[in-house]
Amino acid sequence: MKPIQVGLLGIGTVGGGTFEVLKRNQEEIQRRAGRGIEVTMVADLDVARAKSIVGANVQVVDDARKVIANPDIDIVVELIGGYGIAKQLVLEAIEAGKHVVTANKALLAVHGTEIFAAAHKKGVMVAFEAAVAGGIPIIKALREGLTANRIQWLAGIINGTTNFILSEMRDKGLTFDDVLKQAQALGYAEADPTFDIEGVDAAHKVTLMSAIAFGVPVQFDKAYVEGITKLEAQDIKYAEQLGYRIKLLGISKRTPAGIELRVHPCLVPAKRLIANVEGAMNAVMVHADAVGTTLYYGKGAGSEPTASAVIADLVDITRLHTADPLNRVPHLAFQPDAMSSLPILPIAQVVTSYYLRLRVADQAGVLAKVTGILANADISIDAVLQREAGEGESHTDLIILTHDCVEAKMNQAIAEMQQLSTVLAPITRIRKEELN
Ligand code: NDP
Ligand code: HSE
Repeated sequence: MKPIQVGLLGIGTVGGGTFEVLKRNQEEIQRRAGRGIEVTMVADLDVARAKSIVGANVQVVDDARKVIANPDIDIVVELIGGYGIAKQLVLEAIEAGKHVVTANKALLAVHGTEIFAAAHKKGVMVAFEAAVAGGIPIIKALREGLTANRIQWLAGIINGTTNFILSEMRDKGLTFDDVLKQAQALGYAEADPTFDIEGVDAAHKVTLMSAIAFGVPVQFDKAYVEGITKLEAQDIKYAEQLGYRIKLLGISKRTPAGIELRVHPCLVPAKRLIANVEGAMNAVMVHADAVGTTLYYGKGAGSEPTASAVIADLVDITRLHTADPLNRVPHLAFQPDAMSSLPILPIAQVVTSYYLRLRVADQAGVLAKVTGILANADISIDAVLQREAGEGESHTDLIILTHDCVEAKMNQAIAEMQQLSTVLAPITRIRKEELN
């Protein structure tokens, strides 16, 4: 049978890896897919560099629209990134009747509804395994492997750059800026690294996972997003003393009132496997009613790990290419006419537990006043740690772990505690998840 012909848009970190792995493993891939999969055309702004990667047998152009217009191309792989030209090209490829593979989580989290609707109308597939957690087949697991289950929650370390930064800062005492530069040099960081460190990239990914897990539309604009730039080394240290690690987590939970969708630094018990995921590695925990808790771990970024996911999509599409569109796996796991209208909850309605650090005057009665405010708000305390005041110091740190409460109550309690004259600095609040 004639090989499936693939057009690559963008041959940078992921595009280069995709070309290389497809070439290296072509025989094995063909045995799995049932026919050959060949990159026959590439578009990149840097034509000379692209030619040096793909050699003389692949046509290289600087205009991505020439790839889309080529009637021989069956699948267009978008590896440019961003929501500008990439969005136009994906929509044009769909309109031209091409199947699309993309690693572009930003594009799908923000414009997924429009893109999936266009693909549904045209009867083509849009596959995006590489968009979430790089090489980990988490989309496949959520959409197909767990299809028997009612999923209750998922929580993941889904940004390699920030996990790498947190790990290196803790283990090697390196500065934030130095580790970020390393992550950029290693190809983990986004073109705009603020997407990584401010939690936006993780929010794109958890938005996609949430849609597939709960059968709701992709709603990135409703996600709560907080990155790691305000984390202080002392909180990492106090958390360790209390038996926790701080990780940037993407969390989505089904509750009777709606869906929680949030990204923020989070205390996780050090004994959980996910708390021990270090460096640029990713991991996603999924809790579902039939199977219980499952954990998916692996490389979440980098050239070949991400290429592994792109090629898995190419094989899937190759296998399903000739199948009736109505019998294919739906883009977002649930049939388009069976999506749920459960709302995404605002962060004030989220229920979680907390780590609080208060810089307080080292005076009698301070602890009683602080705990009194929490008691009045009906917030139950789990643990308290008080640092001994240093020689000559008139202040100390009070660390409080709470049990679960609704965020609005905690906001109110923090505002009241902040008014105490004995509370000397802005209160630090980090959310905590037991993940059990
Ligand atoms: P790169 O910046 O390394 O590669 C993008 C490539 O696209 C570059 O070669 C760029 O050329 C080219 N390009 C830009 N504009 C155009 C255009 N108009 N037409 C054709 N080519 C163009 O990005 P990555 O490979 O790292 O990322 C690609 C996608 O994969 C992004 O969506 C990213 O979020 C996602 N992703 C990346 C991962 C990673 O580990 N890097 C992991 C998971 C997902 P030039 O350099 O000349 O501008
Ligand atoms: N910038 C992303 C990360 C790349 O650091 O995880 C993978 O999506």
